[in-house]
Amino acid sequence: MPTQSLFPTLIYQARLQASAWRTFNRRLLRECQQLRHDDEAGRRWSARNYPGGYTSYNSASRMHQLSPTFAALERKLQRHVRAYARSLEFDLTGRSLSMTDCWVNIMPHSVVHGLHLHPLSTISGTYYVQTPKGTPGLKFEDPRLDRFMAAPPRRADCSPQHRPWVVIPAEAGKLVLFESWLRHEVPPNRLQSERISVSFNFNWF
Ligand code: NI
Repeated sequence: MPTQSLFPTLIYQARLQASAWRTFNRRLLRECQQLRHDDEAGRRWSARNYPGGYTSYNSASRMHQLSPTFAALERKLQRHVRAYARSLEFDLTGRSLSMTDCWVNIMPHSVVHGLHLHPLSTISGTYYVQTPKGTPGLKFEDPRLDRFMAAPPRRADCSPQHRPWVVIPAEAGKLVLFESWLRHEVPPNRLQSERISVSFNFNWF
């Protein structure tokens, strides 16, 4: 074919580890629930900014510095972030990518997390702790969408790389990495059970 694909947007998905992730997730799950219980400031902030849900984004946003379990998560994530940075062909000479933020998100029934990006960060991602069957995935939007005003629609059966948005399924034990400037959202949780995840930012120092 005489055409080539330029300016790609790369999304990384993987299992955190080959085995024993269920044991690790049970520890994480206990700590996420305990944190919601203890974190009064976070519950107050969530009531205003994340209606119906709980996030420690504004109250305990460096969990990897507070808890050995989250510090273990940080160590486990590092090889994935390095692999993703290699595929992005970042030149990290003399610098490194380090975790700067790590927080808990709990989404009960009907909670939604609207479109946003992660400012002041390089690579962001989410690790899934509890994902009941049918749990909403992570929806990414084409960063060029605002330039497509007059473009023809794509065929209904077009490949994922030509869609205006793509949903990456949320699955316990798996992680998703993306560049922090990429807009994304979590559609409403239609289930009665809670969707629980840990989100994080890595920055370039
Ligand atoms: Ni996000």
